[in-house]
Amino acid sequence: MKNILVTGGCGFIGSNFVRLVLEQLPDSRIINLDKLTYAGNLENLADIEDNDRYKFVRGDICDGELIFNLFVQEQIDTVVHFAAESHVDRSIEGPSEFIQTNILGTFALLEAARKFWLSSPRPPVPNPRFLHVSTDEVYGSLGDTGLFSETTPYDPRSPYSASKASSDHLVSAYHHTYGLPTLMTNCSNNYGPYHFPEKLIPLIINNALNGKDLPVYGDGKNVRDWLYVVDHCTAILRVLQKGRVGETYNVGGNSEMQNIEVVQTVCDILDEKVEPLANGQTRRSLIKFVKDRAGHDRRYAIDATKLKQELGWQPSVTFEDGIRMTIDWYLKNEEWMSGVLDGSYQDYYSSMYDAR
Ligand code: NAD
Ligand code: TYD
Repeated sequence: MKNILVTGGCGFIGSNFVRLVLEQLPDSRIINLDKLTYAGNLENLADIEDNDRYKFVRGDICDGELIFNLFVQEQIDTVVHFAAESHVDRSIEGPSEFIQTNILGTFALLEAARKFWLSSPRPPVPNPRFLHVSTDEVYGSLGDTGLFSETTPYDPRSPYSASKASSDHLVSAYHHTYGLPTLMTNCSNNYGPYHFPEKLIPLIINNALNGKDLPVYGDGKNVRDWLYVVDHCTAILRVLQKGRVGETYNVGGNSEMQNIEVVQTVCDILDEKVEPLANGQTRRSLIKFVKDRAGHDRRYAIDATKLKQELGWQPSVTFEDGIRMTIDWYLKNEEWMSGVLDGSYQDYYSSMYDAR
């Protein structure tokens, strides 16, 4: 792992991963390819942008020529593929970008890797690895019991999960057909620092701080298995270092919660840590049950036994501790939150980069 191409490194999980790798792998370089969509933010990596083992390239994973040239110029031996359109609600509003980036973008990356790593009798770099970051949502929706394992049949039910499932199948196909050295991780819902405030937890933190309604879809009893983002990143690193080529590993947080419980927990911690609302009421008073999401998956829960037994990984953070660390981070970084919510901020950073 000398020259690592990270895609989508300016997003939530990617930026946490880039920081972890720079800390933990002193002999590795990172080339971060990111298009800087609304979800990508250079500020997420402002603290490391001058690190000489880090390079940012603004570009689209659908641009095959750009990617192939990067492979050659940077002698890429490892790909960690995060770049995606990642929000289910947006995929319901407009699926087209999801098909483009998640399916065609993954295809373009696979093609570039195949061309660079496999086209000559001897690979140009030692031990190449292509790790595709995917989601538990490809497995569909669980009832009250059961867990998703690596052998659970795929049953995606939103345009987002269908596009991720499609990309997963392409990755498997490139391994089986061409022998591309792939690895895949399917993880549960992440939370933690640098999470864009359109997803449940950062949205609730932001609205609760500002005295706005806290929208809970349907009856609030949908269940997600919450995984602290740094734990997810350590799992990815472990799979890269020790995972068996061609295998899939599920990553979960052992923290199943109903959405309403998550929202109430955030409200109670904020009531404890910050000033009360102007009207003196608790933040739970802001909770508002709203129309349900179309096709809303009821329950996700991960069986991460394989990752634990084969690679010795398990989550280090409970939801109770992780959500407190997360809230503390948002309280210390309120400027980050207002920055990413301000459209002109994105334009500002984009123009700043273009001007360089
Ligand atoms: P995110 O939306 O926060 O970030 C996505 C990043 O990809 C952004 O920086 C964006 O600019 C970049 N990007 C988007 N389209 C691009 C393109 N065409 N070319 C180059 N860059 C592009 O996403 P995230 O939450 O960090 O998720 C990262 C990966 O993890 C995704 O593949 C997602 O499906 C998967 N995942 C996320 C979660 C979660 O809870 N967030 C759970 C399971 C799996
Ligand atoms: P989200 O963070 O969008 O992740 P995903 O859909 O990938 O699981 O949503 C998490 C859960 O919270 C999901 O069941 C939908 C629900 N939700 C709300 O109830 N209100 C909201 O405002 C949002 C964004 C999500």
